[in-house]
Amino acid sequence: MRTRPLKVALLGCGVVGSEVARIMTTHADDLAARIGAPVELAGVAVRRPSKVREGIPAELVTTDATALVKRGDIDVVVEVIGGIEPARSLITTAFEYGASVVSANKALLAQDGAALHAAAEDHDADLYYEAAVAGAIPLIRPLRESLAGDKVNRVLGIVNGTTNFILDKMDSTGAGYQEALDEATALGYAEADPTADVEGFDAAAKAAILAGIAFHTRVRLDDVYREGMTEVTAADFASAKEMGCTIKLLAICERAEDGASVTARVHPAMIPLTHPLASVRGAYNAVFVESDASGQLMFYGPGAGGAPTASAVLGDLVAVCRNRLNGATGPGESAYAALPVSGMGDVVTRYHISLDVADKPGVLAQVATVFAEHGVSIDTVRQQGKDGEASLVVVTHRASDAALSGTVEALRKLDTVRGVASIMRVEGE
Ligand code: HSE
Repeated sequence: MRTRPLKVALLGCGVVGSEVARIMTTHADDLAARIGAPVELAGVAVRRPSKVREGIPAELVTTDATALVKRGDIDVVVEVIGGIEPARSLITTAFEYGASVVSANKALLAQDGAALHAAAEDHDADLYYEAAVAGAIPLIRPLRESLAGDKVNRVLGIVNGTTNFILDKMDSTGAGYQEALDEATALGYAEADPTADVEGFDAAAKAAILAGIAFHTRVRLDDVYREGMTEVTAADFASAKEMGCTIKLLAICERAEDGASVTARVHPAMIPLTHPLASVRGAYNAVFVESDASGQLMFYGPGAGGAPTASAVLGDLVAVCRNRLNGATGPGESAYAALPVSGMGDVVTRYHISLDVADKPGVLAQVATVFAEHGVSIDTVRQQGKDGEASLVVVTHRASDAALSGTVEALRKLDTVRGVASIMRVEGE
């Protein structure tokens, strides 16, 4: 074993960073044996130096992250600060100064992944980011390496624990969105400002990263269609139950049926209770991958939290250190397929539409005609009337989102349609 240690700079020492430092210290001998050289924590960049950090010698702590990555003797920079800046500049500087980078930064990778990969390549360095998507769950490496000989057609996942906790609570207790969110906040699952989670931004960044790797195509955050889950109601869950479904916030990355383009989207959707993703409870994450040769695979586990996310960071750290000792780098960006990323209009799926209509002769025929005129085939219709008004639930066969949007627009114009109560996509069938 080499005795000279590989030096690691840790940028950020919050929930994840402190766990990374703890595991590096407590598992030092095992890590050294697995890598073939000791790894040494050479510096820890923090915002608040006065905070007591158990197990981290005070002399390693600095507020000058730039000076730390510019030291010139750092082998690996571990970035767990999050956000775009200063993380982007620090990572770029790390490459310039000869280090490889392990990052957990989904927002940055979803926005600037291509440029960061290029910078890594220019400097013969590694950029690894298993922790950026679904915490401890191995996803990036299985997609990038284990499935590199297969053709992935679809990635369907629950990649946000906060929203899965809220939706699971609504499903199991009949609670409304606000009540379930309040409980998630009280238990520490939801942040004080839950926007990134409940509006789907967090999941959309993860979808961009997964789609890019799965389809060997650059997919940026802006390419991902996004709908949050704040409008999901207890009534939607009741409708889902009647169909033998539940509701999940899904990240869906798909190759078009003709294989000529891909799509990536995040939105709430009904999925059958028989689908493996339906049984993912609480704050857990799971990702279902469909590919030509492997068939269906599911990856399941804790998608957030200090220790689980640190597990993914440490796995990357070991891999990057091994590469460094071998004078090699691991796989970089694979975007050779360069498939066009289509918009939501091209997505083809099934829909559950709930309408409030007048309960009088000819209304059902009128509604059915609108669907037919837009080429959307109806699978089932269920009507419940009361006092001259009725609730009409239409479930369609597969249709394009553009055709469905046209249908809904035309339905809204009918005098007999009082309102469109909800539209929910039906996935996983
Ligand atoms: N806030 C995320 C979640 C974890 O709830 O899953 C970090 O991506």
